[in-house]
Amino acid sequence: MTRQELIKKVKDADAIISLLADKIDKAVIDRMKRCKIIANYAVGFNNIDIEYARRKDIIVTNTPDVLTDSTADLAMTLVLACARRLNEGEKLVRQRKFKGWRPKLLLGYELNNKTFGIVGMGRIGFAVAKRAYVFGCRIIYYSNKRNPDAENLLNAKKVSLKSLMKNSDIISLHIPLTNKTKNLINSEMLDLMKRNAIFINTARGEVVDEKYLIEILRNRKIFSAGFDVYENEPDINPELLKLDNVVLLPHIGSATHESRNAMSELAAKNVIAVLSGKNPLTPVN
Ligand code: DGY
Repeated sequence: MTRQELIKKVKDADAIISLLADKIDKAVIDRMKRCKIIANYAVGFNNIDIEYARRKDIIVTNTPDVLTDSTADLAMTLVLACARRLNEGEKLVRQRKFKGWRPKLLLGYELNNKTFGIVGMGRIGFAVAKRAYVFGCRIIYYSNKRNPDAENLLNAKKVSLKSLMKNSDIISLHIPLTNKTKNLINSEMLDLMKRNAIFINTARGEVVDEKYLIEILRNRKIFSAGFDVYENEPDINPELLKLDNVVLLPHIGSATHESRNAMSELAAKNVIAVLSGKNPLTPVN
């Protein structure tokens, strides 16, 4: 739906299933006359003014857990694609520029023995850490809470954000977008990265100073970056499109048959629960 359609249609709705592209702000919430639940079809809910919804007695739910593995798989896909220069190789072959095996053709990096920094050791961060661990990486993480499972099972070490940015060969973001995390990875943090670093964002674009990251990539101050999310989605900064040391995906972290079916089911169950007077399964406010 367009915003106009949304504003028009929410008026008579008892429940809403929203997509992360639907901005459910005060203006939209104020149009709701009987809505009891906004079931967001995503784990992230930065598209909804949850505080205002709460004030209006509207429950907001999300879809945690069911997209953890799909998103973690995609983060690792980006890590490997960046480390082994997958997009450059593909382009070379498709453009018929592959002239045979060469000792220095598209050299990348191995994952074994690398330091893998996870920003946000929640469900998805932990799932990525498990994958990275079996590839032979040392895990360090930055989080507002300790994750004992990550520490006990994967020997993960909790560190400061600065230390993570400075010491990681691979950095992967797994934090929600909130007032506190907006622009968390700012120019000062980005400047700390190693020259061989690979930077992956499957969380939210606004968590990073995207313009500055592009600058760093253009000047080859890090090895490469993998993006599944962008600051002004779906608009992509044209400067990003000019770079060859990036892998760019269209926000498909949870785009598997398994996850999307489970997300649909969970959103529907939340709606049914609330409309039949029961507690929602996965409330966020
Ligand atoms: C989410 O659920 O927040 C993801 O970004 C969707 O892929």
